[in-house]
This record gives sequence, C-alpha cells and structure tokens, in this order.
Amino acid sequence: MADYSRYTVSIDYDRRLYKQDIAGSMAHAKMLAKQGIISQEDAAQIAEGLATIEQEIKEESFTWDPDLEDLHMNIESRLHQIIGSAAGRLHTARSRNDQVAVDLRLYTKETIVAIAKGLRGVQGALLELAERHKSVVMPGYTHLQRAQPVLFAHHMLAYFEMFQRDIGRFQDCHRRTDVMPLGSGALAGVAYQTDREFLAAELGFSRISANSMDAVSDRDFVVEFLAAASVCMMHFSRLSEELVLWSSSEFGFIRLADEFTTGSSIMPQKRNPDFAELARGKTGRVYGDLMGLLTTLKGLPLTYNRDMQEDKEGFFDAADTLATTLDVFQAMLPGMKLNVDRVSALAGESQMLATDLADYLVGKGMPFREAHGIMRELSRHCEDQNISLQKLPLEEYQKLSNLFQQDVFDITAQSSAAARDNPGGTAPGRVAAALEEAKKILEAAGDGF
Ligand code: ARG
Repeated sequence: MADYSRYTVSIDYDRRLYKQDIAGSMAHAKMLAKQGIISQEDAAQIAEGLATIEQEIKEESFTWDPDLEDLHMNIESRLHQIIGSAAGRLHTARSRNDQVAVDLRLYTKETIVAIAKGLRGVQGALLELAERHKSVVMPGYTHLQRAQPVLFAHHMLAYFEMFQRDIGRFQDCHRRTDVMPLGSGALAGVAYQTDREFLAAELGFSRISANSMDAVSDRDFVVEFLAAASVCMMHFSRLSEELVLWSSSEFGFIRLADEFTTGSSIMPQKRNPDFAELARGKTGRVYGDLMGLLTTLKGLPLTYNRDMQEDKEGFFDAADTLATTLDVFQAMLPGMKLNVDRVSALAGESQMLATDLADYLVGKGMPFREAHGIMRELSRHCEDQNISLQKLPLEEYQKLSNLFQQDVFDITAQSSAAARDNPGGTAPGRVAAALEEAKKILEAAGDGF
C-alpha cells in the first residue's frame, strides 16, 4: 500500500511562518490569562515553552515531523514535550483556521514593509542616475521608432513614477491586511469571553475582523499582494527589456557592470544581460502565482477549506522573486554606464527634429496639419536623397514654404527638449523640478513607507 500521507503535509513550506505563529500564540495565551480563561501560571509556562521553541527553530535544532502535518501541530506537540499538560490549554478559544489566518497576515504585513523599502532603494538608484546625467538628451521612442528627443533623466523618472504607484498598491494592500482575525475560531466565533481588541493591540494590528466566517476564509490580502507584485514585476520587466535593448550593439546606449552580464562559452565578444533577462523571465512566474491562487479560491464555499493551504507556496515564491529582483536592481542600476556621446548624437539626428520643424512653421502662422504635411514631404525627400535635414540647403526648404528662414538650422535636440516646457514635459527646468519633487518623496518616506 502506497503512503499517501505526504499529500496533506505543508511543513516543508509553512515553517516559514514560525515567528508569526509563535507571536500569535504568545499573545493568545496572554489574553486567555488576562480574561481568566486559563491561569497566569499556565500562561507563563506556555510563554516560556514557546520562547524555547523559537530559540530551537532559530538554531535549527528543532525537529520537524512531517507526520504532524503542519507548523501549528509541530509547535504544539513540542510545547507538550517541554511543559506538559499546560500546553493543552493554549488552543482554548482558537482554531487552526484563525491561527493560520493571523500568521499569514502578520507575515504579509512584514513582507510588504520590506518590499516597500526595496522599492525606495530602486527609486533612489533611478534618481541617482537621473542626477548623474541631468542634461543628457537621448532619443525617445514610440513603436520602437525614434520619435522625439527626451532627457535621459526624464526617462529614468518615468520608472520612478511606476514604482511610486507600486508602493501605493502595496500600501493599500497593507491597509486591508492589517485586520486581526483571531477570535473567529473555526468559523463561528468562540464560546469564551475573549478580548480581541487586546489581541489586535498586542500583535500590532489596527483593527479586528468584523465577521468570523469571512475572517477564516478570506485570502483577498494574498491575492492583492500577488496582484501588486505582478504589476511591479511587469514594471521591472519593461525596464529590463530596455536594458537588454540598450546594451545591444545595435543600440549601444549603455554598458552594464561585468557582475551583471555573462560571457558566452563560445562567443568571446558577448556580454549577455542575463540579470535583466531573468527579471523579465521571472515576471511570468509571479503572474502564475497570482493566477494559481485566484483559481484555488474561485470555487470555494464558505468557510475554511483545505484547498486554502495552497495559498502559501505561490505567495512565498512571488515574495522571494520580487525581493531578489529588488536587490538585483538596487545593485545593478548604479553601475550602469550611459554612452552619452552615442545617445546625444542620435537625439540630434535630423529626423528626430521633424516635429520641431513643423512647430517652427506653426510659430510662423501655418496651421499644424499643413506644417505636418510639409515636414512629411521633406523627411521623405531627405530619406530618398540620404541626406540629413540639417544638410538640406535652405532653398530646398523654401521650395515647400517660404516661411523657412536661416533660423530653421537653430533647431537642435536641446532646443527641442527645452520647448516641451509644460507640466510633465521634458524641458530641463521641468525635469529638474520633477527630480527635486522625487527627492522630497524619498526623504519624506525615509525608512518607512
Ligand atoms: N495547514 C493549514 C493551512 O495552511 C492550517 C489550517 C488547517 N485547518 C484545518 N482545519 N485543517 O491552511
């Protein structure tokens, strides 16, 4: 007969919740004693036993027994070994259903704080890059076609904005995770006069759950975490894609530090941007973690169902993937070298300035649509003749409109960027102000979130 017992075992991964589980039990025992539900002596023994267990787990001298299935049973069983029968009183007015809910909420809250800190670090690295190359103009793209000159700093600040929204999403998720479920029991509440507000205060929650049935079966906070992590990874994936493109010989915009590239075993010239590629690739697994949990939850009747044990692995996987991605980017971005000469030269290529030339005609009274048509013709002509707009003689311009004068040659990448002088635009003054604004946001956030 085969042994199927492993099927239900979660100890290999839920042991990660041990600190939260022990904190929850400590608070619970304290509350039970305060309410006169167990004696102070028993509570003291329980607390001492739990402290010993925490130490054992930290030192890795704790023996995890898969026959006891999960973290909660492993800890309770060890508590029995250490303090004897008093251990049996800990589970009064509690169920593993509200126990695991409180553990996971505590863990999610801590994870969010750490992730927000990492995101602040990435934002700081972006600002540092923007600052370093404050006045560099580069080609901006649409459709991956060179479109208009933009400041490199403006491009970096675009990612600052994305990560700012990510932090907002994690903050929202934190608010809804910050709800204390203990006291919900298995599903209906508990038949003891517990003090749930006391538990919330002990465990650092700002409020208690309102409905016991919802509280034991709610994993929305994990779904929200995974959704926020997915959007955030999507942003890292887009940034990664740019780093991959930019570090190719075709673009030649940047050089990543050796530490974050690898050579090929047969092609000595190669510098593969593996870290950026893997960040792009790992985005898929985080989406998978989100889809996995949504699918697990979708058909579940109230209240707790064992399916819900499947909430943890995907959650840990997404949290770890995002956390290591944050570490990598905080280390990789500062070492990124911008090829200033190349991006500046490309930004100044005449085709990039076609919009500005149309704007020039508009400035002299021509309707924009007409100016656009003239510039399209001129651009085509230049392309056919393989000549740049800058090299085209003024007479050629004047064949299409005599509004063109010598000052048409004053238009440069710099003047193009400087002209976009409205809120959110790429003019150097606007970008400098945005940079200051971003620095203020980081300073105000400090280490918190
Ligand atoms: N290991 C379980 C989980 O993670 C703990 C809750 C078990 N509750 C139960 N009634 N079997 O979901």
